Amino acid sequence: MAGIRTAAVIGAGTMGAAIAAHFANAGVPVLLLDIIPQGATNPNVLAETAIAKMLKTEPAPFMSRQAAKLVTPGNIEDHLAELAHCDWIVEAIVERLDVKQALYHRIDAVRRPGCAISSNTSTIPLAQLVDGMGEGFARDFLITHFFNPPRYMRLLELVTGPQTDAGLAALVAEFADVRLGKSVVRAKDAPGFIANRLGVYWLMLGVIEAMDAGLTIEEADAVMGRPMGIPKTGVFGLIDLVGLDLMPHITASLGATLPFEDAFHAANRDLPLIKTMIAAGNIGRKGKGGFYRKGAAGREAIDLVSGAYRAVRKADLPETKTKDLRALLSLKTPAARYAWRVLGQTLSYAASLVPEAADNIDAIDEAMRLGYNWKFGPFELIDALGVDWLADKLRADGFAVPPVLEAARGKSFYRLQGGTREYLGLDGAYHAVTRPDGVLLLADIKRTQKPVMKNASAAVWDIGDGVLCFEYTSKSNSLDQQNLELLNRVIDSSPKALVIYNEGSNFSAGANLGLGLFAANIAAWGEIEKLVTSGQQIYKKLKYAGFPTVAAPAGMALGGGCEILLHSSAVQAHAEAYIGLVECGVGLVPAWGGCSEMLTRWAAAPKMPQGPLPAGAKVFEIISTATVSKSAAEAKEYLFLRGTDGITMNRDRLLADAKARALALVEGYKPPAAPIYHLSGPSGHVAMGIAADDFRRKGVATPYDMVVADQLANVLSGGEADIIDEVSEQDILALEAAAFLKLIRNEGTMARIETMLTTGKPLRN
Ligand code: NAI
Repeated sequence: MAGIRTAAVIGAGTMGAAIAAHFANAGVPVLLLDIIPQGATNPNVLAETAIAKMLKTEPAPFMSRQAAKLVTPGNIEDHLAELAHCDWIVEAIVERLDVKQALYHRIDAVRRPGCAISSNTSTIPLAQLVDGMGEGFARDFLITHFFNPPRYMRLLELVTGPQTDAGLAALVAEFADVRLGKSVVRAKDAPGFIANRLGVYWLMLGVIEAMDAGLTIEEADAVMGRPMGIPKTGVFGLIDLVGLDLMPHITASLGATLPFEDAFHAANRDLPLIKTMIAAGNIGRKGKGGFYRKGAAGREAIDLVSGAYRAVRKADLPETKTKDLRALLSLKTPAARYAWRVLGQTLSYAASLVPEAADNIDAIDEAMRLGYNWKFGPFELIDALGVDWLADKLRADGFAVPPVLEAARGKSFYRLQGGTREYLGLDGAYHAVTRPDGVLLLADIKRTQKPVMKNASAAVWDIGDGVLCFEYTSKSNSLDQQNLELLNRVIDSSPKALVIYNEGSNFSAGANLGLGLFAANIAAWGEIEKLVTSGQQIYKKLKYAGFPTVAAPAGMALGGGCEILLHSSAVQAHAEAYIGLVECGVGLVPAWGGCSEMLTRWAAAPKMPQGPLPAGAKVFEIISTATVSKSAAEAKEYLFLRGTDGITMNRDRLLADAKARALALVEGYKPPAAPIYHLSGPSGHVAMGIAADDFRRKGVATPYDMVVADQLANVLSGGEADIIDEVSEQDILALEAAAFLKLIRNEGTMARIETMLTTGKPLRN
């Protein structure tokens, strides 16, 4: 097969519909089929309803409304024959072997031989799924286990059988990696694969040990979460998120399929409380609430003994402040004993899963990092504790010490050798942790190199072939005088090409508001003005540099973090890039060229009506409402990204893609010409004011929004300039700076900044 160009997903439930949406996010046309429900007048009702519902779901399964058009709804009675045109068919129907196999027979009769067919099953072994299905089917069949929600969860467990065609599996794996952006972990055909086998064991232990220790759920989650690098939902909060109703299905299936000596059975205790909760509809966040819920008087938590809800009590555990995990687990308090019993047994179980569930420890770590959002995989945690310390403590407490852990005594599971990360194999030797082709990580580069330039807020790295990489290193990658200075220095060094990139969870939260507030509080207006004008100059220097610059954002790129994208020659964005000029939210206006760049882009936008009014009004609408795109695809709709800017689906491939893009621009590179603007003038200013007033009358805009909007309107309309005047970039920058400096002296703005800094939420004054 040449590649995967069209796909089909069968089963338009929770997973199937969202998997189809994600194919569409990747630009692949996809057929979404379900059954015709009895008595239905519309035979496609299930798939159609699923698509409509997804367009309203938050977090959104689709990256753009445009993507939704790539999903064609249908049903398995009328449209099965269309599967003949598909390169990959994903089955995501009810978790029943007989129903799945009955469907496979029907699919096999119409599909093209050599087209991949995979199941999204969470619990049924591949050997059972292909049993009795014929050789051709088994050759093209594999399990692709997506995690919920498929757009956002990076893990994809891939399981092949002895008959699966290796070339086809490699093709699916590559497509899932490059196009769907998944981190593909090869799992063995063992019950529950990797992440759920270990994750569900950990969750079950977390529940029963909390009950045995008499802890509250708040205490259990507090000690099980952050101190271990586990999301703060801990155990009970995570079960609420997953849905309590799913737990009995998975535990029953694991209980039925795992051999009797498996440690899972000891943790799989019958829990009447969970049964009662499910019967009462308390199935978690998707229901009326679960272990936690929103009560009439605020958040409530369940009492594990009585099963009654009571007000949430913040866990006050001094032990969670212990920085050293080993010290925490050695404490004798009930919470620390709980943490040890749960984590100790979980790590022991993890070690027992090699080679049964995965060929190597790295696969297990990756599965837990990406499938359960653990910061560290179990073997990384074991290294942090020390192999010998853990093995001794497990033995002393009467817990199992699996052979893999015993064999690692005196060693660690990972080591650094000449800058390369290596893992301990089952053969007792270390093997390099390899990255797929096209994956370049700053984290790896940092193991072998020193930065080319560096200060307290930024660093510059040599990423090969003459390309430099500029990295923010400040808190939340916020922008300050120091990282501006380093940016200035790297531009002066005239590299062949520059990539602006980092591996933080957010590209940049924008200018450091804390510094701004401090300066304003001591009335250091000169300092603030300097920061505004030097930022403007350096961003323009970036724009007009004689070499190509490529910004590569992932996560949030806000305010000044968005403006740097606007000034780069090109952007290569991660698909999950949330981009916006949010200054108005804190009572300011974009003042590092954000207004001027957006005006340039919208004036040249296709389908924009002639004249300066429509473009200015559009930019006003986007900036005054502090619009943030919910994906890179959506950022193109707002022109935060250009149509030609690239999107990378897999986070790990972003740097390599950005570097390739930069290198492709080198030959014959010419910086852009300075634009000339025709703006709408005072009449445009008035029109924007009317639009803002309309928002105020509808109750959307607050009184202070009107003050900020007026300043923004002044910039975007060109101030005093007349509609026939030519306005330069520099003129607009001067207007931006004036508006910014005026607003920051205003109490309304100060209150907004203070609230944002203390609560993280905008103040609607
Ligand atoms: P669901 O119950 O939400 O959806 C199943 C869909 O399949 C329903 O729309 C149903 O009408 C349809 N269906 C049933 N029989 C059919 C048939 N013969 N032909 C066509 N459509 C049929 O189920 P969910 O949760 O989406 O699970 C689907 C699969 O994904 C299961 O194998 C499950 O184990 C697996 N899975 C579920 C996860 C989750 O979090 N829900 C996570 C990972 C895997």
